[in-house]
Amino acid sequence: MPKSISGFSKLSKEEKINWIAATHFANAEEVVQTIKKYWNTDASLQKLHDEFIENTITNFYLPLGVAPNFTINGKNYTIPFAVEESSVVAAASKAAKFWGNRGGFKATIINTEKIGQVHFIYNGDKEKLNTFFSQIKPKFFSETEGITKNMQKRGGGILDIILKDKTADLDNYYQLHATFETKDSMGANFINSCLEQFAKTLKDEAQTFDAFTEDEKNITVVMSILSNYVPNCVVRAEVSCNVSELAEKHIENPQEFAEKFVQAVRIAEIEPYRAVTHNKGIMNGIDAVVLATGNDFRAVEAGVHAYASKDGQYSSLSHAKIEDGIFTFWMEIPLALGTVGGLTSLHPMVKIALEMLGKPSAQELMQIVAVAGLAQNFAALRSLTTTGIQQGHMKMHLMNILNQFKATEDERKQVVKHFEKNTVTHSAVVDYLAEIRK
Ligand code: MEV
Repeated sequence: MPKSISGFSKLSKEEKINWIAATHFANAEEVVQTIKKYWNTDASLQKLHDEFIENTITNFYLPLGVAPNFTINGKNYTIPFAVEESSVVAAASKAAKFWGNRGGFKATIINTEKIGQVHFIYNGDKEKLNTFFSQIKPKFFSETEGITKNMQKRGGGILDIILKDKTADLDNYYQLHATFETKDSMGANFINSCLEQFAKTLKDEAQTFDAFTEDEKNITVVMSILSNYVPNCVVRAEVSCNVSELAEKHIENPQEFAEKFVQAVRIAEIEPYRAVTHNKGIMNGIDAVVLATGNDFRAVEAGVHAYASKDGQYSSLSHAKIEDGIFTFWMEIPLALGTVGGLTSLHPMVKIALEMLGKPSAQELMQIVAVAGLAQNFAALRSLTTTGIQQGHMKMHLMNILNQFKATEDERKQVVKHFEKNTVTHSAVVDYLAEIRK
């Protein structure tokens, strides 16, 4: 059987699975069974998932966990997390409880502006282009009225469009740089539709602009696309308390803990190797809630990491200080999220996740997601600067190892008991399991 195929997309789902199984596996029958085991028994639900993407053969599960007791701006939330990494939800729950007892999390929206650009090439007189742009600028608004009408009713729309001269960086390269308010939608389709219309208006109007020479009329639009870098769509999340209030199990000396914590954050601020892992810990919380609420985690990831490098070197997204006996830990993070459109009304679990959060607006969701990130970062730094993370991680990992070896209930109990007093390592668990199975 050849490993390449033409017309694959035209095959039925069954045929696709059979082709994959026969082409790539020695145990084809078993593979087909496993793939089908993950189909939903509810045919209409399965159809819904089949149609999200192309060439769907089955579903790929991630656990949906929840962390209750998050206090954000005085309101209580149970936050849903879609994530495969053990201890992320446990860490979130712990941080929620810790800060719930110390005034909770505070979150504020700094701004909500989105960006899109039409990238074009113009080989001609710059002054003429400036005049042309000023003259046709109202047309960018009027010719997108059909697209912007509904968004305007919801209080959003196109905020501004400017012409940017980028010729110092690339020959003859200019942009229409547009800013948008997209309210409760993430806005990707809205922005891209507006941009494609701007591009059309730009090209069409150039044809009839008398001051342009024939060459100058030939504006080449290279592409029109939103930017996932949203440095003006930023939310701030924060916790603070008296240093003395930080005392808890594993934090016997709160002053020492606070100082070490601040030091750990400083290291992430100045050392990119550490900053990447530090921020990865933040994204453990962010991505999981972004995914559970049907948002685009790739867009969020790309934008967040660009923001972490905005001052020229990749750095920590979070910051901490001790001032006048008060410990403050905070983060500002760009998040372009939506609570309407996209998957939000389509995916049944997304609907439940959003309802669990009290059907938040996009701004409220930005606050919740940022808090989930800060909570995760707090939990990671707390473990790292006190007990180390392996103790907790390996306890969770123990379950994965037990599943891998298909441990019975009885074996699980014995193993868990044994490792209450012994260090968990993969080989130690395997050895102990073998011993009790003798
Ligand atoms: C692991 O997924 C995340 C951490 O490495 C984050 C950190 O080091 O801050 C624990």
